[in-house]
Amino acid sequence: MARKKIALVGAGMIGGTLAHLAAKKEMGDIVLFDIAEGMPQGKALDLSQCGPVEGFDAKITGTNDYADIAGADVVIVTAGVPRKPGMSRDDLLGINLKVMKAVGEGIKNNCPDAFVICITNPLDAMVWALREFSGLPHNKVVGMAGVLDSARFATFLAWEFGVSVKDVNAFVLGGHGDTMVPVTSYTTVNGIPVNDFAKIKGVEQSRIDEIVDRTRKGGGEIVQLLGNGSAYYAPATSAIAMAEAYLGDQKRILPCASYVEGKYGLDGLYVGVPTVIGAGGTEEVIEIDLSDEEKKNLKVSTDAVEELLEACKGLDESLK
Ligand code: LMR
Repeated sequence: MARKKIALVGAGMIGGTLAHLAAKKEMGDIVLFDIAEGMPQGKALDLSQCGPVEGFDAKITGTNDYADIAGADVVIVTAGVPRKPGMSRDDLLGINLKVMKAVGEGIKNNCPDAFVICITNPLDAMVWALREFSGLPHNKVVGMAGVLDSARFATFLAWEFGVSVKDVNAFVLGGHGDTMVPVTSYTTVNGIPVNDFAKIKGVEQSRIDEIVDRTRKGGGEIVQLLGNGSAYYAPATSAIAMAEAYLGDQKRILPCASYVEGKYGLDGLYVGVPTVIGAGGTEEVIEIDLSDEEKKNLKVSTDAVEELLEACKGLDESLK
């Protein structure tokens, strides 16, 4: 079988972490792209030298030339700038939209059959932009957010209950912003609905509400702590899980920013929903029954994404 090719566009902290994870897992040959001269080459060289110690055999190259991502099976995009303390993800719209134009065109010209996973913020709008600029079909462009947000929710719940994170199955829908919707009705601890489990453990509903709020603001909490950058380990891990689902045709159901048309009352919007990921890319959006309260919260979140997208489309016009 031909070796797979993974292109990582953006060689910052997430890009480097992605390359390390993909190499350790021997997912295929890795090409690390960045416009900063020397940086992707240096990181690729450094990471290659982990191989003998960690026992992986992966070809990792660094480049400043989009031609080198030719034929990639998966492209993971982290290019652009992260927010700083005090900023919202939406504040990055103008600057990162320009970056997505260059990246989208690079993909279009070199690897139009790839599965593209976007991590750049503001996530839901940048997925839309990458799709627009690359011209790829909607099922081949997706945003990494729900896996990360759900992992945060699961982590906080596991800590609160004093149980293994492996037993918490948490679920977050909606846009990747502070209006995201951690869905407690579909969150379980080893199959037990989280609110029932909270009662068993004597945890007040107000604590669950606080955890929901902390999850919504989870990215900002890390931005504040780091002082100069945003989270990278968990975003990279989340995107790798999505890439593995695609490459291995795993049919995993992962919450991610997929194109939703005719479900959840949406008429063509990239937003976080449970999605089957397999060899066909985002193969199916799963529509789940939500409580009235959850529906209302999801609407607030999707409205916020739509509003941002309008601003994005206005800027996009000015880029033409
Ligand atoms: C995250 O959630 O960690 C990322 O979206 C980065 C950010 O700015 O919060």
